[in-house]
Amino acid sequence: MRTQVGIVGAGPAGLMLSHLLHLAGIESVIIDARSREYCEHRVRAGLIEQWVVDLLLETGVGARMKKEALFHDGIYFSYSDGLHHIDFRKSVARGVAVYGQQEIVKDLIAHRLSDRGTILFEATAVKLEGIESGKPKIHFEHGGKADVIECDFIAGCDGFHGISRPALPERVARHYDRVYPFGWLGILAEAKPVADELIYAYHERGFALFSMRSESIVRYYLQCAPDENLALWPDGKIWAELKTRLGGEAGERLVSGKILEKGVTAMRSFVCEPMQHGQLFLAGDSAHIVPPTGAKGMNLALADVCVLARAFADFYRKRRRERLEHYSATCLPRIWKAQRFSWWMTQMLHRFNFEQDFDMRRQLAEIDYVVNSAAARTSLAENYTGLPMESVWRRGIAWHRRLRLLRTLWPRMGRRRH
Ligand code: DHB
Repeated sequence: MRTQVGIVGAGPAGLMLSHLLHLAGIESVIIDARSREYCEHRVRAGLIEQWVVDLLLETGVGARMKKEALFHDGIYFSYSDGLHHIDFRKSVARGVAVYGQQEIVKDLIAHRLSDRGTILFEATAVKLEGIESGKPKIHFEHGGKADVIECDFIAGCDGFHGISRPALPERVARHYDRVYPFGWLGILAEAKPVADELIYAYHERGFALFSMRSESIVRYYLQCAPDENLALWPDGKIWAELKTRLGGEAGERLVSGKILEKGVTAMRSFVCEPMQHGQLFLAGDSAHIVPPTGAKGMNLALADVCVLARAFADFYRKRRRERLEHYSATCLPRIWKAQRFSWWMTQMLHRFNFEQDFDMRRQLAEIDYVVNSAAARTSLAENYTGLPMESVWRRGIAWHRRLRLLRTLWPRMGRRRH
């Protein structure tokens, strides 16, 4: 099988890349080891920055998001039994949207398939070959048979445990890593939301987070051991612990309900530099991981593929390689700022050492400072709602929009084969 861009991984990064390439008249094939059902239902974070809302709308995959997402103007911090609101819109004139990652995945899969895109599910990539040559290949297994995709470029969107990052030679890749001494126990439940916006709770027993998916589906997280045994957490214990940690007002209002899903996520910060070598380009979790506090993971993955799609478009239309050569250098400043922000939220809100009362007082002072200082609130709001997109990405999106309009007038435009 031959295509222009071979994409490993049908998560948000791989699917959005394929969608953006399609809009630019570039062919791609996506393979994923998992089934379509699995990709569409794996529960992940669900917070999107304002520019991602715009991206989904402007590239024609945002209709359901526009109807079903919950649009929030701020968040709450709960600490010392008080609930304090931070108004992002007042500080930076923008907010965030709550829309589950798997919903974006469903929308993108539906659009790719209706646009006659190729996604091979249950197709396991086994080896990337020739990334230093002009003719890379993805070897994979599908339906018990070995097969190969010959392409011009490979996009490695196969997550932290995928085969793409290890394909970068050791001599070129440097890894920056931090592992946290805790994880999150997450639940999805049928219950009424305890507040109209998310609550980040600091408690001496550990962090807790309230989030939601709709007016009847809630998502909660509790700080736990990185290898926490779920068997030790019957439903009643989870609700009781949430009530305690949400504290005072929020704890009082907590409504329990049927738990639909439970899981434990370990936490780490990780960046691979550079994010490219030869004809291989990494995007999303294959190149970087953030701890979940602040929900930056998917937003960063989508930012990567906006840069990458624009770079491929420059290559195929103008034969210019500059944007491809600068892909990693263009993405990394935003990635490191999101790393800093996610680390900052994590270190402020979690208990690292339960013996250290000094740390607890210091953390409480920091949260209290953020709540009460206009400067600190603005800094939080600016990062939480998403740092401004580089103008090149904005132009890239505007350019897709113009192209879509022209396409409706002249359907074959820009579909030149390489
Ligand atoms: C969610 C997850 C997060 O990590 C976060 O900071 C906010 C919300 C969520 O799953 O809704």
